[in-house]
Amino acid sequence: MLLATLVGCASATHLGEPQPDAPPVAERCACALAANLSNEAGSLVARCTGIEVHATPLTDGVIELRYAATGVAAPASWAVVSAMPDPTATIGGTGVCTAQLALTIDAQCQVHATLPDGTPILDDAQPFDGAGTLVRTARADRVYGLGERTGGLDRRGRTWTFWNTDAYDPAFGGWHPDQDPMYQAIPLELHAGAGGAFGLFTDETRRMTLALGGPLDTTRAETTSLAQYVIAGPKLADVVRRYVALTGAPALPPRWAFGFHQSRWGYPDAATLLAVADRFRSEGIPADALWLDIQAQNGFRSFTFDEAHFPATLIGQLAAKGFHVVVIEDPGIKVEPGFSVYDSGSAGGHFLGYQGTAWPGTAVWPDVSRAATRAWWGQQVASVADRGVAGIWLDVNEPTTFPEGGGGTTLPDDLVVDGDGAPTTMAALHNAYGLFEARATFDALAARGTRPFVLSRAGYAGIQRYAAVWTGDVPSTWDGLAQTLPMLLGLGMSGVPFVGSDIGGYSGNATPELYARWLELGSISPFARAHVTNSVPGQEPWMFGDDVTAAARARLGDRYHLMPYLYSLGAEAVRTGAPILRPLVWEFPDDAMVADLSDEAMLGPYVLAAPILHEGATSRHVYLPAGRWFELHSGRIFEGPTTIEASISTAALPLYVRAGAILPTTDSVEVYPGTEPSSFTLYEDDGAQLAGGTHTTITVTPNADGATVAFDHDSAVVARTLNVRVHRVDGAVTGVDGAQSFKYDPDDRSLLATAADAAHLALAFHYDPAIADPDPPVAVTFEVHVPADTSQATPISIVSSADTWTAQTPLAWVTAGVARGTVSLPRGEWFQYKVTRGSWTTVEKLANCGEVTNRSRFAAAGSQVDTVATWRDRCGN
Ligand code: GLC
Repeated sequence: MLLATLVGCASATHLGEPQPDAPPVAERCACALAANLSNEAGSLVARCTGIEVHATPLTDGVIELRYAATGVAAPASWAVVSAMPDPTATIGGTGVCTAQLALTIDAQCQVHATLPDGTPILDDAQPFDGAGTLVRTARADRVYGLGERTGGLDRRGRTWTFWNTDAYDPAFGGWHPDQDPMYQAIPLELHAGAGGAFGLFTDETRRMTLALGGPLDTTRAETTSLAQYVIAGPKLADVVRRYVALTGAPALPPRWAFGFHQSRWGYPDAATLLAVADRFRSEGIPADALWLDIQAQNGFRSFTFDEAHFPATLIGQLAAKGFHVVVIEDPGIKVEPGFSVYDSGSAGGHFLGYQGTAWPGTAVWPDVSRAATRAWWGQQVASVADRGVAGIWLDVNEPTTFPEGGGGTTLPDDLVVDGDGAPTTMAALHNAYGLFEARATFDALAARGTRPFVLSRAGYAGIQRYAAVWTGDVPSTWDGLAQTLPMLLGLGMSGVPFVGSDIGGYSGNATPELYARWLELGSISPFARAHVTNSVPGQEPWMFGDDVTAAARARLGDRYHLMPYLYSLGAEAVRTGAPILRPLVWEFPDDAMVADLSDEAMLGPYVLAAPILHEGATSRHVYLPAGRWFELHSGRIFEGPTTIEASISTAALPLYVRAGAILPTTDSVEVYPGTEPSSFTLYEDDGAQLAGGTHTTITVTPNADGATVAFDHDSAVVARTLNVRVHRVDGAVTGVDGAQSFKYDPDDRSLLATAADAAHLALAFHYDPAIADPDPPVAVTFEVHVPADTSQATPISIVSSADTWTAQTPLAWVTAGVARGTVSLPRGEWFQYKVTRGSWTTVEKLANCGEVTNRSRFAAAGSQVDTVATWRDRCGN
């Protein structure tokens, strides 16, 4: 013990090997403070020539660090919501010790920190220079996070800038492939390497750079006081959980906001929007919201409507068709005496002392860092909400002044702002402007008693408390699509779970293939909105031909079917900060194959998605980490780790379900038992209430005789019937205890039980869990409707790509004009097929005798219903 104490107090720790023999963390601080250190009200303070460092333990896994020129006071934080000192931490010797972190400050005021096992994580290579530069020894680790960025997941190798920017580059019709900075500034570094993960959050809203390209990691901002938070792991999930405890829990959007949204800049009038709404319904493509961009305003004036083209009655008419309406509001307010928003803002002193140019012409910007101005902004938001608008879209809030485009034009640095009661300049506040605007908007909507929906282009750490985020003006290119997935994953890892992109890309003229692929990615994005610029064709799902329309119907149908799972992931994000769409490294931190894997993602803990991101792809590699995986629609089994080659089609979105998965859907709970027990928390509420939903813990316990599925609710049970389906029941079924009824589907190899819900419901599925053949063929049922006068002398047949178009598999006649039968096909593969009357000379034709394009289907249990117009021999071609 004595030896341990001496070791702990002897010296600061520098980067090197972990020290397994080092004393436990808490004991490293168990001796008298070194001479340059003092304990001031729960903070360890180190004073050196010209600088001082304050280290304050906040929780067992978070230490606040503040580097300052001597005597410079700490500025207020606009991101941190909870920073109470941790009473259980110890301050002594040369440092601060919490249960998860040990931090020391040496005689030169350099900070060094380790994990509980002694692994060094943080190592100042120079003392703070008193002017905003921090230099640390780089670790041999990966750095994730940093919010919205181009490139892959691992941020090492580049210098990154934090400065909210309108990233539009006219040459690309959106952001440049290597663009940096983007619209958001979220200075959260997630370091992953030896010893696990830890985080570093630099709470700075000035222009800042972080150089991660060499042997030193250098943080630079023009400031005399720099605040950082050292955040313990050991998992990425632990770091992000602690980070959102510090900067605020994500707001749960209303349930409709998890649906599909359709937008475009330029819908000209109400009639067009009503027609778009009707078309969604007639096409059978689910959607919940339509968006109004600036063309719906009166001369681009925020908080107004072009009443002639978008009368107030429109919103009720769209509501009657089941659509919510979201409107854009820009912060640049037209300078125009007589315009009520300008007049009331001027009268209240709400505008900053600068005039610039924005969409409406000469404009002024509200000082949203001032409480009274936020209240005024909230009144404008309320006036729009009074009209029935359900959500607010905050754009150009970097804030952007014109000319936009590549230059990152914004308000002048020296402009004086309120700073929430501590006057400062735009230079200091820039990155927080969008955060303040989102806060004012969210608070105004929340005050109305229903759950707000806000989308914001710009943001800072803490934006998750108020808004969903989209990736701005992404070009409609294959590169834009490929970069979108890692960008969404990076934002998600940075505490912002509700993220999405312009489906189809912003610049427009997406090819049908690009749009289909983007929609497929959109169908698993937490926020799913198609949007496009003006003066180009719209990007509604039916604009790209029948195949793409059908693909949109299928993929958005899947999204809506999985809505209880998706919505529950939203609630999980509120509880823990876990992203809804997360990189594989989040779930499989020990698998080196996924350390920088960014073309696959996990939708929650259980569903692996491998969207197709490249033009002309005819199949794609999918890496499946260790464990058993079930292809979602067919139940085909793969044993990981493995890389498979997935067959694809226009409608394909390869999805694999991890063993142990529990997927609540709109009509069932889908269970994929593994070898270990697993659980999932289903969250349910009315979709808009501010608090108080029901959490149901669903537990699956596999055993030698099948599996038990149990439900436990945290509030009163409503009378309802639950359908629980266990997948890949290949062996003999003997019954389901606790169920009202059960049914085995031999094609799907699943066992469905039905039971009345109860405070505690346990269903014991009894079956032989052995799997003899992981991918047995599947019998797909075809029902073909043919011209009623088609002779029944020869059978209607199916011919498919599954056997390179050789066998003509006959169906049976049901009645004149209808044939039905099954075809055995490779489970879990896409195939193409045509209908014949037994030979190619009798193959189906279009009504105009044109060639029928190959029909396409995924081989999973179920029925395929098709209609044939006419036959080749009737066409005579
Ligand atoms: C910005 C937005 C875009 C919007 C346009 C017009 O470019 O990023 O989504 O359509 O402004 O308001």
